[in-house]
Amino acid sequence: MGLLVHCIPSSLPLQENFMSEDLNILKGSKTEEYQSLIPQIKGLLTGEADLVANMANVVAALKEQFQWLWVGIYVVKDNELVLAPFQGPVACTRIQKGRGVCGSCWQQAKALIVADVEKFPGHIACSSLSKSEIVIPVIKDGEVVAVLDVDSEEYNFFDDTDKQFLEEIVGLINF
Ligand code: SME
Repeated sequence: MGLLVHCIPSSLPLQENFMSEDLNILKGSKTEEYQSLIPQIKGLLTGEADLVANMANVVAALKEQFQWLWVGIYVVKDNELVLAPFQGPVACTRIQKGRGVCGSCWQQAKALIVADVEKFPGHIACSSLSKSEIVIPVIKDGEVVAVLDVDSEEYNFFDDTDKQFLEEIVGLINF
């Protein structure tokens, strides 16, 4: 099943400006699904310099492919993580350094895979449905500038394959 995104500038006649982008949702192994999605994400990012637009399309593409409970980005602003584009239930807007899984990922500047969020000291429960989580830091010039956060309704859902591919995917965004 594909997602059809129509982008129609109102100032041009329909026939000349119609543009569509199909996101092809392949179902297979986790690796196959990431490998199918990555070139499509590269296509979505090509030619667009706006950071919010690019973050928004990346999290939308990930949500469409994997149907996780929540996927989104927090960006570092004035020494806090601030909620940026996401897909899923409403979430907490600001996270302090060292707090929760996201703040710990920021502090440690390394990816964290949490099999059971209730066992993670200080976990911030934005949704009671979340059971496991992976958070990937975005590092620019040696500093964490953002984190990609993904939540699942299933325990022990994420592994090193997710870490490897999600690191590659956030690395495609020009922060
Ligand atoms: N659980 C995260 C907070 C963000 S929400 O999951 C979207 C944490 O502990 O940092």
